[in-house]
Amino acid sequence: MVKKTAIYPGSFDPVTKGHLDIIERSARIFDRVVVAVLENGAKIPSFTFGERVEMLKTAARGFPNVEVKSFDGLLVDFVRRENASVIVKGLRAVSDFEYEFQMALLNRKIAPEIETMFLTTSDKYCFLSSSIVRDIARHGGNLDEFVPAELVDYIREKLSKS
Ligand code: COA
Repeated sequence: MVKKTAIYPGSFDPVTKGHLDIIERSARIFDRVVVAVLENGAKIPSFTFGERVEMLKTAARGFPNVEVKSFDGLLVDFVRRENASVIVKGLRAVSDFEYEFQMALLNRKIAPEIETMFLTTSDKYCFLSSSIVRDIARHGGNLDEFVPAELVDYIREKLSKS
């Protein structure tokens, strides 16, 4: 049987509990999920590629069918390289829709064989984003609710110095 692989892409700067929720749910649907750390041209990251990959590996340790990789190029090229056919994205609110819809259409234009599937974010994480996490960390706030427990100290340490 052909294994169904999905790619969950993002900048993950850093990974949050909202991302982890999407990873966990995708891992239940697909045989194999590759979390792909990619560059978002519109953003200057606070964590390096390597740091973001390591944080995701720590956070996703409990899921045997989840791999974490990084790629410096077009998302669709990575999807093809991994022999995947589906891109998974999380939708937090209506405000995400227009941007995500545009990206999905653009990706389909370049690679018609690849489908984008949206999972609605759990309501308890719909307010969450990586920039909110960075902001709280920089101001010494409590991160327990927002990032995986094993990353709280690392993220606080790293961002309090920036
Ligand atoms: N829970 C919590 N936060 C979430 C979330 C969820 N389920 N889903 C998204 N977010 C947040 C992220 O934390 C991020 O927050 P921030 O703006 O505060 O940093 C924000 O939503 C956007 O997510 P991001 O990870 O930056 O993803 P994106 O949807 O903007 O897409 C790439 C980024 C990397 C996937 C995209 O730029 C890409 O494909 N790059 C490769 C180059 C390429 O192919 N370009 C053409 C694309 S059409």
